[in-house]
Amino acid sequence: MEKMNTKRRIVLVPAPGQGHVTPMMQLGKLLDLKGFSITVVQGHFNQVSSSSQKFPGFQIVTIPESLQESEFERLGPIEFLLKLNKTSKASFKDCIGHLMVQHGNDIACIIYDEFMYFSEAAAKEFKLPSVVINTSSATNQACRTFLSKVNAEKFLANMEDPQAQDKVVENLHPLRYKELPVSDMGPVERVLDLCKDVVKERRAFAVIINTVSCLENSSLAWLDQELGIPVYPLGPLHITAPPPSSLREEDMSCIEWLNKQKPRSVIYISLGSVLSMKTKEVSEMALGLCDSNQPFLWVIRQGSEPLPEEVSKMVSEKGYIVKWAPQMEVLAHPAVGGFWSHCGWNSTLESVTEGVPMICRPFHGEQKLNAIYIESVWKIGIQIEGEVERGVVERAVKRLLVDEESASMRERALVLKEKVKASVRNGGSSYNALDEFVKYLEKVEL
Ligand code: UDX
Repeated sequence: MEKMNTKRRIVLVPAPGQGHVTPMMQLGKLLDLKGFSITVVQGHFNQVSSSSQKFPGFQIVTIPESLQESEFERLGPIEFLLKLNKTSKASFKDCIGHLMVQHGNDIACIIYDEFMYFSEAAAKEFKLPSVVINTSSATNQACRTFLSKVNAEKFLANMEDPQAQDKVVENLHPLRYKELPVSDMGPVERVLDLCKDVVKERRAFAVIINTVSCLENSSLAWLDQELGIPVYPLGPLHITAPPPSSLREEDMSCIEWLNKQKPRSVIYISLGSVLSMKTKEVSEMALGLCDSNQPFLWVIRQGSEPLPEEVSKMVSEKGYIVKWAPQMEVLAHPAVGGFWSHCGWNSTLESVTEGVPMICRPFHGEQKLNAIYIESVWKIGIQIEGEVERGVVERAVKRLLVDEESASMRERALVLKEKVKASVRNGGSSYNALDEFVKYLEKVEL
């Protein structure tokens, strides 16, 4: 890639959590390759190690945490984010003040995760341009923008009305009102408060989205019109940038295990970095997986509830369990034929990029949107709704890996994979969007 002559610095502000940190650091790598210097400003928890060998040349700064990690568990994600934004303004301003002294006019802009909107106050004070990165889908961003404008009272009343809930949201086809990502995250009015804050506080000059035009064309077109600022779909960042950073240690032994399995026979199971299932559900799932007779690789994170002993014994005979997997390598492995996922956006993009069909078991919010796209728009997966019972699990695994329909799902997944990979090559949509974004950064002034 061609480097710029003048090196300018970009300040990145990731939100805590693997699903947010990973794409932000991938963006940092990309911009580093384009000739920018990078400073990462982060809190204490879920942070990128400042000694990380993976980011040579990056300046990594830690600001005092305004909320403890335990608060996340206590408050839940919505209240946590609302509070974090109220309490982090001062320390972030101080930090930018110091960086301004250190780097002077060299700072080109602040790029912050949309949930770290406290960053706007410092950007305004120090007259720095700000850019938002949305690490989830364009459709989720479109929903958030839509939800930021609704009348909360009317919206809540509509939620009680099945007819209103079945209607397609204007311009957001195929989404229906009941599918808007407001439920299961906390009280709906508080979710609306967060959507309003995220959009209201925003003074940003541009929005970066970790997506690809071919995946979400209509949501991107809607956002382009609605936001009135440039929207840059630069994804999938995990293939445009060099390997990302894992906040946890990856158990590489699973690759050796995969090497011993037949092509496209394995179902890989992971629920991302935050969620875990209840013991009963895990047991049913384990029994269904064993009944399916397909080998499986299962990520059960440290701290998850342990499997009952007899189930655990059966699972270790038929499958392979790790605490944290090298997910991208796993999905790229020829033995992997399907991915059981909670449909976090990173996992979705990673699976699409490798052409791996999915069993969708979303938990909340935007994961449900992603599941709709996987099952009904791209048609590369199936969704499990209702109770997770062993028979349902067995059936789903067979549909995905063995039955006739599995071949057409895989075929569509492979077509999509090629389109997505083409988007990051010279002349592709994400490649061009990155070039445009860099040109934009070179000229943007307050
Ligand atoms: C969170 C939200 O839950 C999700 O809905 C949102 O889209 C992003 O933020 P998370 O639940 O962690 O993310 O899911 P996901 O977005 O899929 O990110 C998980 C990341 O962890 C992926 O990049 C995946 O490759 C990585 N991972 C997961 C591993 O590297 N190893 C594992 O064993 C499991």
